[in-house]
Amino acid sequence: MKSHAVRAYPFPSAPGLAVDGTFGWLRGHEPVSRISLPYGGDAWLAVRHEDVKFVMSDPRFSRAAAMAEEMPRQIPQQPANRTITDLDRPEHSRLRRLLAPAFARSAVEPLRALARRHAEQLIEAMRRTGGRVDLVSGYTLPLPASVMGAVLGVPDRQLGEFRELADGLVAVRQLAPDDYAALVADLDAYLTGLVSERRAVPTQDVLGRLVAARDGDDRLSEQELVSLSVTLLAAGYVTTAGQLANDLFLLLGERALWNSLLTGEIGLDTAVEELLRAVPLNDGTGFCRVATEDVLVGDTVIRAGEAVFVALNSANQDTAVFDHPDRVDLTRPFNPHVAFGYGPTAASAHISRGSNSRRRSGRCSARPRTCDSRCRPRKCGGGATP
Ligand code: HEM
Repeated sequence: MKSHAVRAYPFPSAPGLAVDGTFGWLRGHEPVSRISLPYGGDAWLAVRHEDVKFVMSDPRFSRAAAMAEEMPRQIPQQPANRTITDLDRPEHSRLRRLLAPAFARSAVEPLRALARRHAEQLIEAMRRTGGRVDLVSGYTLPLPASVMGAVLGVPDRQLGEFRELADGLVAVRQLAPDDYAALVADLDAYLTGLVSERRAVPTQDVLGRLVAARDGDDRLSEQELVSLSVTLLAAGYVTTAGQLANDLFLLLGERALWNSLLTGEIGLDTAVEELLRAVPLNDGTGFCRVATEDVLVGDTVIRAGEAVFVALNSANQDTAVFDHPDRVDLTRPFNPHVAFGYGPTAASAHISRGSNSRRRSGRCSARPRTCDSRCRPRKCGGGATP
């Protein structure tokens, strides 16, 4: 039997927006390798595009089984509530079905105008400040916060309180267990309030539509609604804020790319896809999955009960799929990136309109008309791993 070196994971952060060189080496030499997580022990790591897609879409890899206490993870706590990200089919498919109408075009379209308006207001505020501005506090955090506030129908007067709770999620990996428990309790209490208000007075925002969602006789329970709202907030805010900050960091350092976007010579849809592929988001690790039987991944057998992670940033750099993946080509014609995951749990597969909303929010914010060239963005974390 082949013996495997066990590497501490996540690998050390590479400078700027580079992806750690270990991933490239692993793709060539050890595409399925052993890693040791900060909590819960060792796991497998798949780094090639083909293997990442396979692990994310094969039903023999369970996300529900990964919720067990002893499973490898990056933070000390297991998620407190079971939600869409912790379920397998058929429970997972049921939640996706109930979620779909809430992300219908008619629900998501108004968010586009809101995101554009708010983006313009934030840019104007930074221009008024003059001199150096911090794009993270001035733009990349408040913009997705206000969009997620609109998704959940947060009233304007509560946006400050909402923002405080949402910002707790940005730093979740740094929280001590007690602070994490307190944050989860506060989020639960706040979102329970929003859900009850919508039970009393129906609304057309995404949360209002979730409260009203029915599939035959089926509907979401109170607990499911609250857990889903917390998940949407966590999945939607931290990721988008991180992606926006990193995109701007890249574009401001590559003025030719920036200018090509400003002049409109490059289509934004293609550009956003390329930014999603080329710009790493945090360490780019998907959720943990556990094999429910022995499964061959590449030439490695993952035994029943063993945990496996997928490296999305690495898959997006795979030369077997992408020509010159290290180059940012905003007109890249073939771009099957896995930034949103792959298969039935991919954010872009079944919440198809939801993915439009993400891309739209990327489009609205990716083409700010003006920006002070002296602004100093800093890298902001985000990613799918709990
Ligand atoms: C740049 C922005 C985003 C990125 C890169 C991103 C990335 C991802 C990835 C990679 C997954 C799959 C993880 C896995 O299965 O291991 C995922 C799942 C998910 N994302 Fe996002 N996401 C983004 C924004 C959002 C937004 C704005 C929302 C909601 C408003 C959202 C909601 C979700 C949900 C609900 C899931 C779980 C889907 C399921 O299990 O069926 N995401 N996301």
